[in-house]
Amino acid sequence: MDKKEKVSVPSGFLALIVLVVFVAGIATMLVSGHQIGSAEAPKPEVKDTDTATTSSDDSLSGLSSQAASPNAYEDNSNLPGDYRLMTVLNEDIYKGSMILVNYKYQSMIDGENLVNIYDNATEAVGVKDDDMFINESIVKPLNQFFDDFKKAKGQTSILISSSYRSKDAQTKIYNESVKATGQKSTSYYVAVPGFSEHQTGYCFDTAAYNYMGEMIELDGEGEYEWLAENCQNYGFILRYPNDKTNITGIGYEAWHFRYVGVPHATFIQEHKLCLEEYIEGIKDYTFEKGGLLIDRGNRGKWVAFYCPKLEAFNNTDIPVPSDSAKCPYTVSGNNIDGFIVTVDVTKDTSNSLLKNARTDWSFDNKSLIISDFEDYDPVNDPSPESDTAKDWQSDPFWGEDDSDTETDAEDYESRFDYVDYYDEVSDNESQQSE
Ligand code: DAL
Ligand code: ZN
Repeated sequence: MDKKEKVSVPSGFLALIVLVVFVAGIATMLVSGHQIGSAEAPKPEVKDTDTATTSSDDSLSGLSSQAASPNAYEDNSNLPGDYRLMTVLNEDIYKGSMILVNYKYQSMIDGENLVNIYDNATEAVGVKDDDMFINESIVKPLNQFFDDFKKAKGQTSILISSSYRSKDAQTKIYNESVKATGQKSTSYYVAVPGFSEHQTGYCFDTAAYNYMGEMIELDGEGEYEWLAENCQNYGFILRYPNDKTNITGIGYEAWHFRYVGVPHATFIQEHKLCLEEYIEGIKDYTFEKGGLLIDRGNRGKWVAFYCPKLEAFNNTDIPVPSDSAKCPYTVSGNNIDGFIVTVDVTKDTSNSLLKNARTDWSFDNKSLIISDFEDYDPVNDPSPESDTAKDWQSDPFWGEDDSDTETDAEDYESRFDYVDYYDEVSDNESQQSE
C-alpha cells in the first residue's frame, strides 16, 4: 500500500464533504442577500433604497439614497411604528424645491430636471421665446396658475419673461444692468451671478405687453393683483415682497414668483413671511420637538419638519412615513445645513406626527435683518448713476457680452465684500449675545 492509498478516503465520504461545502456556500449567499447564480460583487448594506414619493402638490427633489451610517436616529426603536429611516446624501441639501438661494447662499445646482416651457405649457402660459426652461415639477402648477388667472380675468397678455438662467446668462444681465442703471440699482434688483435663484429653475418672472406693444415687467397692479393674491394656492410665493427688502436684500419685485409647494406657500403667505424667515424659522420644528402643522381643510393637511444634516458623515438618516401610498411625503434640502420633510397626512388621520405637531409661529427675524441695508428708491434716487451712466453712454461696445472684463469682476468683488461684511456683523452679533 503506498502513501497515496493510505490517505485516500472512501468515495462516499468525499461526496459527503462536497455536499456540505455546497450547502454552506448556498447558505452564505442567501445570508448576504445574493441570489444563486448572481455574478455581482457584494454591495454594501443599504438600509433603504426608496427615494421619497411625490405628493399631489409638492415636488420631489430627486434625492438619492445611500448606504446607511450612524446618526441621531440610529436607534430605530425611537421611531414610531409608522416611520422608518431614509438615508440621503448630505450633498443633497443643495437640491429640491425648498432651497434658499440669496446673497448669502449661492445656488449649487445648475437647473436640474429642466423642461422647455413652450413645449409643456398650456395656451394661457405665454413665453417670451421658445427656449425657456423650468424645473419639470413646476410645469403643472404653473399651467394651473395661469389657466385660472385667465379664467378669472379673461384674455390677458401675460407671459413668462425669464425662467431658468445659467450663471453666464445672469452675468450678462448683471453687466448690462450695471451699464444701463448703475451699480446701486443693479445690486437692488439683480442677484450676483451664482447667487440668483433663477439658476435653480424653480422661479420665473412675469411680464405683459402694454398698449404700445412693448413688453414690460408686471407691477402687480390692476388685474395682475390676482397673481400675488392667489399664487400660494398653486405653490408659488412672491419671492421679493415690498416689506422684506432688508431681509431678502432685493427690492420689491411684483413679477418674480418662486415655487415652494402648496403647504409652504400658503403658510408663508398667511404669516406674511419671506423665504429667508420661513427657512430659518422652520428649523425649530423637528421630528422630536414636533413638526409644523399646516391644515388647509378640504385642500389637505401637512406636517413639515426640519432635519439637520449630520456633519460627521457623508449622509444623513431621515425619518419618513413607512407607507408612502397612505402618507405621501417629499424631502428637499434647504441649501444651508439640512433637509425639510413635508408629510401629507390628509388621508392618514392617525399619523404619529400629528400627536405633537405645532401650529404656533414665533420666529424672531432680528438675526436676518441686514443692518446696513439701504433701500433704493428709483423715484428719488435717479439712475443711471452719473459716473456709470457716463461710461455707458460713451461705451461704443455697450450691450456686448464683456462679462470677463476686469471692471465687471471688480463690481462683483464689491458685492462679495458686502456679503463678507454681513457675515462678520452677524458673527459678532451672535458672539455678543452668547
Ligand atoms: N432679480 C432676481 C433677484 C435675480 O436676479 O435673481
Ligand atoms: Zn426674477
